[in-house]
Amino acid sequence: MSRKKIALIGAGQIGGTMALLAAQKELGDVVTFDIAEGMPQGKSLDILHGAPIVGTSVQLRGTNDYEEVRGADVVIVTAGLPRKPGMSRDDLLDVNYGIIRTVGENLKALAPDALVIVVTNPLDAMVYAMQKITGFDATRVIGMAGVLDSSRFSSLIAQELGVSAADVTTLVMGGHGDTMVPLIRYATAGGIPITQLLDKERLEAISQRTAQSGGEIVGLLKTGSAFYSPALSAIKMAEAYLRDQKRIVTCAAKLKGEYGVSGVYAGVPVVLGAKGVERIIEVELDASEQAAFDKSIAAVKELTEWVDKKSVSV
Ligand code: APR
Repeated sequence: MSRKKIALIGAGQIGGTMALLAAQKELGDVVTFDIAEGMPQGKSLDILHGAPIVGTSVQLRGTNDYEEVRGADVVIVTAGLPRKPGMSRDDLLDVNYGIIRTVGENLKALAPDALVIVVTNPLDAMVYAMQKITGFDATRVIGMAGVLDSSRFSSLIAQELGVSAADVTTLVMGGHGDTMVPLIRYATAGGIPITQLLDKERLEAISQRTAQSGGEIVGLLKTGSAFYSPALSAIKMAEAYLRDQKRIVTCAAKLKGEYGVSGVYAGVPVVLGAKGVERIIEVELDASEQAAFDKSIAAVKELTEWVDKKSVSV
């Protein structure tokens, strides 16, 4: 059996970190594409130099030529601009849409059978645009957000409790923006409902910090946005697909009536396996959770409508 091919479109902070992680995990051969000349080549060579240390046998190539992406099994897209302090994810809409259009057209021609994971922000609009441009089945075009948002929520709860992050499980749904919905009721630590371990006020504060975590990192880094945990999150999704793990993860998936929503992408729990999104899981939401979810969907729809108008005018 030949090795799988993973194409990383964008070799910046997230792209470079993903190349390292994919190599370490032996997910497959890694092709890293970027428009910046030399940069993907340099990062790939750097990781290759460390291959004997981690004992990986995968091949890594950096390129500025789309042709090398041909036949990829998984494509992870981070091409685009990251946020700077003072910017919201939505401020990136115009410029990143143009980039996603070019990437999507190339993927349509070169990697028609790939699972495409979009990371570029504003996430829910960019993954919607990618599916529209490629025309790929929505089960194979997904966005990375919920894995990261849930991981952020879990890590903050673990810190507060002074327990291992590995024991905390959470669910954050909705759009990948300030309106995301961390579901306190579904958080557990070692199987124990979190509401039995922390009081309501602390949980509300942690949930709020979760929704603003991306901005917190931007404020600290000043020159860009988070990259280690986004890279870990996207690679977890790629692994679930390549190894047919059937993991339950939250990712931006195209809704077809689930949660009362149709035709847009938003963060929902799904089963991720060799067929891509194998199932969207509908958890029961109470009235206030559903209202928060609806509010988040309304914010996503605004950006999605912008994409629809833009794709008519080009
Ligand atoms: N094609 C390919 N790569 C491109 C293109 C393009 N048309 N335009 C820009 N790039 C590349 C840049 O050269 C850069 O190397 O995309 C890369 C983005 O990397 P960073 O600037 O380091 O950004 P990163 O932190 O990796 O975030 C990427 O993910 O989380 C989101 O908001 C974030 O949209 C941003 C994306």
